[in-house]
Amino acid sequence: MNIMQTIHTRKTCREFTDEPVTREQIQTILEAANAAPIGMHDYEAVEFSVITDRSVIDKIDALAGPNAGRMGTGPTYKAPVLILISGEEGGLERGTAYCNAAGIIENMALAATDLGLGSGYILGVVKALQSHPELFAELGVDEGYIPVSAMTLGHAADPAIVTEQREPTVSNFITHFVE
Ligand SMILES: Cc1cc2nc3c(=O)[nH]c(=O)nc-3n(C[C@H](O)[C@H](O)[C@H](O)COP(=O)(O)O)c2cc1C
Repeated sequence: MNIMQTIHTRKTCREFTDEPVTREQIQTILEAANAAPIGMHDYEAVEFSVITDRSVIDKIDALAGPNAGRMGTGPTYKAPVLILISGEEGGLERGTAYCNAAGIIENMALAATDLGLGSGYILGVVKALQSHPELFAELGVDEGYIPVSAMTLGHAADPAIVTEQREPTVSNFITHFVE
């Protein structure tokens, strides 16, 4: 796929199979993450937790509650991988922590699409996680960092999620041309 085909194919996946994601695939996703734009070139402001332990993902899911997900499954949709992005505390107030995470997740989601994997930007777990700092160590979140965003990753139950392209449009967003 060329880049525009990948962009138009990426969709939020909310149903996954149990098939595991390989280490090589995760490596490619992390390479895409590491190529993302980062405020002030400050790579130390961001940390990742790649969570494949089913019991840990389920615990996060239960913490966020079923109302945080659209399929009655909780916000992680039983994905086999949850990539948690944490930002340095100082970057929360300035907004850079969330902006960094957004760019990183889009890079990872496009790479996932290119690999034929489903993914989803999941903010639905963040509020619950932020109010449970006692879990940070178990989640690999270092002191001074706060979870700000998460991405699910896995094999899409519906192959169309990663094969069908959407019609390009410029009408989803209101756009003002100032000429
Ligand atoms: C900041 C942000 C937070 C999101 N959080 C969630 C979430 O918690 N749960 C969810 O199912 N989808 C979440 N999404 C996915 C959006 O619902 C989805 O991107 C949007 O409906 C457009 O659909 P598409 O991704 O298939 O193009 C989030 C997306 C963004 C950008």
